[in-house]
Amino acid sequence: MTSILGISAFYHDSAAALIIDGEIISAAQEERFSRKKHDSRYPFNAVEFVLNHSNLKLSQIDYIVFFEKPFLKFERLLETYLAFAPKGFASFCMSMPIWLREKLFQKNFLFERLKEHDKNFEDINKIYFSEHHYSHAASAFYPSPFKDAAILTIDGVGEWATTTVAVAKDNEIKILKEIYFPHSIGLLYSAFTYYTGFKVNSGEYKVMGLAPYGEAKYKDIILKELIDLKEDGSFRLNMKYFNYATGLTMINEKFTNLFGKKVRNPKKDLLTQFHMDIASSIQAVIEEIILKLVTSISKEIKSRNLCMAGGVALNCVANGKILKNNIFENIWLQPAAGDAGGSLGAALAFWYQELSNKRNPSLTHDEMKGSYLGPSFDDQQVENTLKSLNAKYERHSEENLISLIANELKNEKTIGWFQGRMEFGPRALGARSIIADPRSDKMQKELNLKVKFRESFRPFAPSVLREDLNDWFELNSDSPYMLLVADVKKNIQIPMNDKEKKLFGIDKLNIKRSTIPAVTHVDYSARIQTVHKETNPKYYKLIKKFKEITNCSVLVNTSFNVRGEPIVCTIEDAFKCFMGTNLDILVCENFILYKDKQIKSLLKDYKNEFEND
Ligand SMILES: [Fe+2]
Repeated sequence: MTSILGISAFYHDSAAALIIDGEIISAAQEERFSRKKHDSRYPFNAVEFVLNHSNLKLSQIDYIVFFEKPFLKFERLLETYLAFAPKGFASFCMSMPIWLREKLFQKNFLFERLKEHDKNFEDINKIYFSEHHYSHAASAFYPSPFKDAAILTIDGVGEWATTTVAVAKDNEIKILKEIYFPHSIGLLYSAFTYYTGFKVNSGEYKVMGLAPYGEAKYKDIILKELIDLKEDGSFRLNMKYFNYATGLTMINEKFTNLFGKKVRNPKKDLLTQFHMDIASSIQAVIEEIILKLVTSISKEIKSRNLCMAGGVALNCVANGKILKNNIFENIWLQPAAGDAGGSLGAALAFWYQELSNKRNPSLTHDEMKGSYLGPSFDDQQVENTLKSLNAKYERHSEENLISLIANELKNEKTIGWFQGRMEFGPRALGARSIIADPRSDKMQKELNLKVKFRESFRPFAPSVLREDLNDWFELNSDSPYMLLVADVKKNIQIPMNDKEKKLFGIDKLNIKRSTIPAVTHVDYSARIQTVHKETNPKYYKLIKKFKEITNCSVLVNTSFNVRGEPIVCTIEDAFKCFMGTNLDILVCENFILYKDKQIKSLLKDYKNEFEND
């Protein structure tokens, strides 16, 4: 038995992953345990979790692989400083102390931290380093159901690379070309995230969500002034407009002058049509770059399959367009596409590339186990915890519970759904989700304002039974990780059950797409999760039951948290979030908690508990 622990840390989202003999066993992000969103510190809790999950001590682990090479990264900081000196001095000084303290001597630093898990761990030579984009590429290809593929990884920046094209076959990944810092699609998108008043590295989703409300009026200006985009998708940014290589902000005055408005202050300035037009413009530019890149890759690499990872792969609107344009026949996206997934990629890269192990993809399903790779709690643990929290609960059989909850959904109740192993990656996929009836007119506003405490424009995503996907959406391929956007069908045909068939004398009911308003974006698109009975049987059964009583095989699915809070991990987290928001019902495994039956003094104001993201 060979066990490999992968770690990503000290940059964006730290995480740990464990693989045994090449099988993905467990993976989790540190933020879920520390309750600090995007926590980038050494992932002590995540490492503890993956070890305990397999009853292993650290000294029993064969290899530990870090997701990037600290020295290369240090070199980039140093060279950037020299290239832009003296302008870059401020940022260099800001980053130096951290590097000196934690990063420059990372092998020793890591070794010391690892020993905290197990005093008997004494072999520093078990620690290895992968490369940042190589880790992303490995996380995109090795778990995929493909024997061969083209790989595209795009993010802000790793060591030097920001965009990487690779080709993979069997157990081997070969990097073909790279685009280097400071030329970066991720950082370009982040510059606009900053300009529209959202937080860099987390507000990118908001820009994407805002885009359909605007018109791409500034697309031409961006393409003319900010970026030199070639036909093959390669690009260079015009660094006259950006500050991130040299200063502590993303953009400079030239940038704001170009668009004629200052950076939006989220505390004072409301979002206006201008910001929506800006969001729409940068989204259009990003899509154009990605489509050009993917098209040129498809000409160069003879494979029908494309794998993607890196933070920009989370831009599901762009992903949907790749699919729609039929550039590749199949596309697979790593659900933990950001730096957290680098932990898994680093471990897999070591197993296949360094140890030269054979790879036998199933060709029908991927190796991520639905991305349900985190902690879980059995009924006994749930009950003990609920008791200790003074919660009022009912225990039901699974069948009974599913029927009860399907009916509560129909009654427009908002429900916290806590089941099985927590998801790895930024999306809730029916293990730590808030779910609701998508047919309700008031649901989007209600969930945004009273449950999630966030902007009312934020769209919600649908979970749909895989076999019914085509009844509701213009999409034909699996989207188990909610990473593809497609249109809601113009005319939806709902099949009638036997009783209805007799009653109405028709097989199918024709209705317009506005029938699921809570998950339909203003441009009639939706970010889709297909639900599969093989990976999440209980959630599948729930939607199936909901369909039985409503004819609707779609649910609203949003992450179980409030604005600024990491997704809930434990029963305690779930109960706290339930009691601090307007959620009506909490379901933990086979236990149901109704809000109106809880002790009033346990209710709390949760709205300002977490920092705005
Ligand atoms: Fe990255």
